[in-house]
Amino acid sequence: MKQLVDKLERRRTLSKEEFVYLIENRTAELDEYLFEKARAVRHRYYGHDIYIRGLIEFTNYCKNDCYYCGIRKSNISAVRYRLTKEQILSCCKNGYDLGFRTFVLQGGEDGYYTDDKMVDIIASIKSQYPDCAVTLSIGEKSKESYQAYFNAGADRYLLRHETANHSHYAKLHPASLSIDNRKQCLYNLKEIGYEVGCGFMVGSPFQKPECIAEDMQFMNELQPQMVGIGPFIPHHETPFADEKCGTIELTLFLLGLIRLMLPSVLLPATTALGTIHPMGREKGILAGANVVMPNLSPVEVRKNYLLYDNKICTGDEAAECRFCMQRRMESIGYHVVVDRGDFKSAK
Ligand code: SAM
Ligand code: FES
Repeated sequence: MKQLVDKLERRRTLSKEEFVYLIENRTAELDEYLFEKARAVRHRYYGHDIYIRGLIEFTNYCKNDCYYCGIRKSNISAVRYRLTKEQILSCCKNGYDLGFRTFVLQGGEDGYYTDDKMVDIIASIKSQYPDCAVTLSIGEKSKESYQAYFNAGADRYLLRHETANHSHYAKLHPASLSIDNRKQCLYNLKEIGYEVGCGFMVGSPFQKPECIAEDMQFMNELQPQMVGIGPFIPHHETPFADEKCGTIELTLFLLGLIRLMLPSVLLPATTALGTIHPMGREKGILAGANVVMPNLSPVEVRKNYLLYDNKICTGDEAAECRFCMQRRMESIGYHVVVDRGDFKSAK
């Protein structure tokens, strides 16, 4: 077992069978061995710095119907909202004053925000905050659209691939969505020049160790600059309402493996991880993560961007989240820095 972890560190990949073996035979002792190595690798590139990203959830309208997602279009109980450009800019102002130098614009796939509107929003943020990075997380678009946002100044794009396994993908999404298109989007984004993030939910319904092994191999092939993984958590108004949550143990283990496979990747300890365990984000950092994403969305809309049940921090002001995060990170010996937090190439 330990030899496999050493091999992953050395060769930066494993066979599908080896990944499956590690996932199926994980022990608490192996966890500790892995996390120590993962921290050492992370310290080599990023020291004890924690990069913060200001998350702005600017629309919860979505044309898609992903079975796991609380803001899917069939959820007629969701209270829908959109932020205006002025509201988004005011989140950025608030965030800038709090020391954020990356803003993440995330939302459902909402046709209201045409390419012209997105370009205007991105260009306005970049002209007011030229020292900040803009990350988009708005789903699958044409290559032309991605290019237009890039030309307007967008720097990074998060698009979790969700699962690299075809039949698993089909169990999580309606037939109108395909993993082939999702992967193509990621390759298009990379080609344009974005820093790209893929990722998946840990413990999503029907996920087998083989699926995760395929996720690992896909990530190794794509070589993303960011990877977002967090536990699946059911939402009561979705087809997966009665499914089980992903576990903290497996999520942490996978964070450690990803850190060894992609040594300098930007790896968040996600809000979902903080939702399933009160110390989830701290544990995520100690397993090899180096990014956290406190919420900058206006408090009035926070409780409406509910991807899953019991999401944390929905009632807190941005400043509270920011300082809470700082305290949490300091409690484990890390420090939040005022920095764009760009990717560093692996040596
Ligand atoms: N629409 C954009 C997209 O598709 O990439 C961004 C928004 S989408 C809500 C962001 C991510 O939330 C998804 O990629 C998915 O992995 C995650 N997510 C959705 N529902 C979830 C759930 N029930 N539990 C955990 N994560 C979830
Ligand atoms: Fe579109 Fe979740 S179904 S954001």
